[in-house]
Amino acid sequence: MRVTAKAQPNIALIKYWGKRDTRRNLPAVGSISITLADLSTTMSVEFDASLGDDILIVNDRDNIDMLPRIKRCLDNVLGEGRQSARVDSHCNFPIAAGLASSASAFAALVVAADGAVGPGRDTAELASLAGMASGSAARSLCGGYVELQNCGADISVQSLRSADEWPLKVVVAITATAPKPVGSTDAMEISRKTSPFFGRWIDQQAEDLADARAAIGARDFAKLASVAEHNCLKMHSVMWGSRPPVIYWNSATLACMQTVRELQSQGVAVFFTIDAGPQVKAVCEPAAEPRVREALAATAGVEDILVSGLGAGAGLIADE
Ligand code: PMV
Repeated sequence: MRVTAKAQPNIALIKYWGKRDTRRNLPAVGSISITLADLSTTMSVEFDASLGDDILIVNDRDNIDMLPRIKRCLDNVLGEGRQSARVDSHCNFPIAAGLASSASAFAALVVAADGAVGPGRDTAELASLAGMASGSAARSLCGGYVELQNCGADISVQSLRSADEWPLKVVVAITATAPKPVGSTDAMEISRKTSPFFGRWIDQQAEDLADARAAIGARDFAKLASVAEHNCLKMHSVMWGSRPPVIYWNSATLACMQTVRELQSQGVAVFFTIDAGPQVKAVCEPAAEPRVREALAATAGVEDILVSGLGAGAGLIADE
């Protein structure tokens, strides 16, 4: 039987950077994200003993690069004695370019794989399984404003607010689409081992999480903007202070930040955030979206613009 799931990437407003358990891929800090609506990965899984080995197809092409991670994730969901799988993935946005494509991919994969044999697991179990493959993927199990908490030996995810309750928009400025120079897993370890700022980053996270939680609770845009930009720049400072330094920005990344600053000085409700890649994600109130889109599109070095609202968490869908 072929089972299909769809998941959306999420953008962290309070970031996860660093692991406390590399074997289980547990994050060193909690995080808060928003799940997008318009960017998505659709993943179909079909188990068939006659295949002999797993097959991964991404956007209609055989893909061997991602296959080991997909295999490991399927083993974690179903056990190593499982049948071989044909996994068919469709992603409507650039892959491995700092747009959280692994978050939507692994959230969709665990939901589809679980659905193929059940479905049986609750959101917490699915989030743990997705998180083992990609830390941020756990958050894509839920919709809207999502908090991932480090609780004891495990993680939990919960929606703090639905997308409908505070329907902000995200304008993504694409400044480069080449794969990133160093993956986030390796980069996090470099930061943990060498960045003089890593300890302070961990110590201050609870305060940033509390501020963001309160801002989301009160739908206070200015308060959310302030703590999200602070937390983003602090994470990048940890990266820049690593040896070797981890620098994901290019000159267009900085130009986009400048554009957002100019919009803010004109009273536009917008703030930026940047992940392990050179893209700038501008979060804004819906009325500000056309102006933010236009300003970022006119910024030097911006190659493309994607716009998304906030949406729901991962789930099974009817097979196409
Ligand atoms: O889930 P990973 O291993 O790709 O790490 C994601 C790290 C950041 O995107 C930089 C921050 C975050 O919380 O999503």
